[in-house]
Amino acid sequence: TTARRDVLVIFGITGDLARVMTFRSLYRLERRGLLDCPIVGVAYEDWTKDQLAERARESIAATEGEVDDAVLGRLMDRMSYAHGDFGRPETYEGVGEAMGGAEHPLFYLEVPPNLFATVVKGVAGAGLATNARFVIEKPFGHDLASAKALADELHSVVGESQLLRVDHYLGKVGLEEIPFLRFANTMLAPAWNRDHVDHVQISMTEAFGVDDRGHSYDPVGALRDVVVNHLLQVVVAVAMEAPDPGDRSSIGRRRTELLREIVPADPARYVRGQYDGYRDVDGVAADSTTETFAALELRIDNPRWAGVPFFIRTGKRLHVTEAEVRIVFREAPSLGFGLRGDHPPSNELVVRLGPTFGVRVALVAQRVDAADPELAELDVGFAAAPGEAPTPYEVLFEAALAGGGMRFASQGTIDAEWRVIQPLLDAPPEVHPYEPGTWGPSAADALVEGRGGWREPWLDG
Ligand code: BG6
Repeated sequence: TTARRDVLVIFGITGDLARVMTFRSLYRLERRGLLDCPIVGVAYEDWTKDQLAERARESIAATEGEVDDAVLGRLMDRMSYAHGDFGRPETYEGVGEAMGGAEHPLFYLEVPPNLFATVVKGVAGAGLATNARFVIEKPFGHDLASAKALADELHSVVGESQLLRVDHYLGKVGLEEIPFLRFANTMLAPAWNRDHVDHVQISMTEAFGVDDRGHSYDPVGALRDVVVNHLLQVVVAVAMEAPDPGDRSSIGRRRTELLREIVPADPARYVRGQYDGYRDVDGVAADSTTETFAALELRIDNPRWAGVPFFIRTGKRLHVTEAEVRIVFREAPSLGFGLRGDHPPSNELVVRLGPTFGVRVALVAQRVDAADPELAELDVGFAAAPGEAPTPYEVLFEAALAGGGMRFASQGTIDAEWRVIQPLLDAPPEVHPYEPGTWGPSAADALVEGRGGWREPWLDG
């Protein structure tokens, strides 16, 4: 059923994800008048409602800077709290009571993956799973085999159509705007293929380090943390075919179809790096070879994209915090206009995914007073100010409460994603050290040799 949800139940409301993301997103949705159902927080701790309200206030103040008491008051009015051990049936009886007579619940599992099945079974055991949807968070396994095993375990208690898997990039401003730009602009759509595009650069760089996440990050690394999910979804946004006219729900199928056309990655076109000082981070093994930087090339085996490389690079402790995708068009032929240079520079179209959101088109222009043609940059923001754009989690909550699954990843998507990177997990190349504050190991430059190198990202101001 795609009915609007009539209760939101959050397991793990006292945890880290709730502190960093959930309270903030719910508060912002409340402020925009987009919440209309009761919310039940569930956790092991025996908290009072006042303690919950205190946590909510602290985390909203920390993430939003200020708290509007009227909005927080409205949010807390719709919240209740149930506590208990997730392994015990009584806990779910308490949850059922707190849910009142709701018939289309949304259960949000902010718990470690090894508890997913326990919670789903507990919910089903209390007779609460009919018509329910379950939101779950990564990691969905650590490779293809474990992802399939997790899916089998979940499917033994709940149907695939009831599962909403979070990839927060699917809620990011800028991502859906990429296919929109392409299909809505008749000057772009015909150029969006191997005849006109030289290559694509996807770059997600972070100036901060692993900091307090050593324990959870060290067994994972950059490839599993952000490439297999977020950055593959950026590739999909660039390369997917159009949804069926009038059928937005076909977007999910188009995404998975594209993922299945990506050629499994080649370890010879994969560069791993680790920043100096990473091994001193609390929770990181002293001899860790986990990558905090990954750069790779992907190819798509379909008629539209054959021969066009998609380059991806990401890392922690790099020069700036910035995410963008850059479509580099083919060079024009040499012109008979008396230019000094042989060819004019290539057109580029950049979509910025963070920290601000917008599109830049670089057109070649010849100014009367300049010797050589230059790239004139035309910029359009997607949101007036970063704070005005909805956060990814707001977008995801809104979509899930509305009853739709389009903003979430299916198991088909997850399997296809792991299939792309599995060869890199099977034969990881050596890890190159790099200095914090740089663009990562110089070995990554070889990937884009002959393509003008990695572009400097589009920075604000
Ligand atoms: C998370 C990763 O999924 O995405 C983090 O675990 C990463 O390591 C984050 O920093 C990046 O998301 P965003 O939205 O800030 O680009």
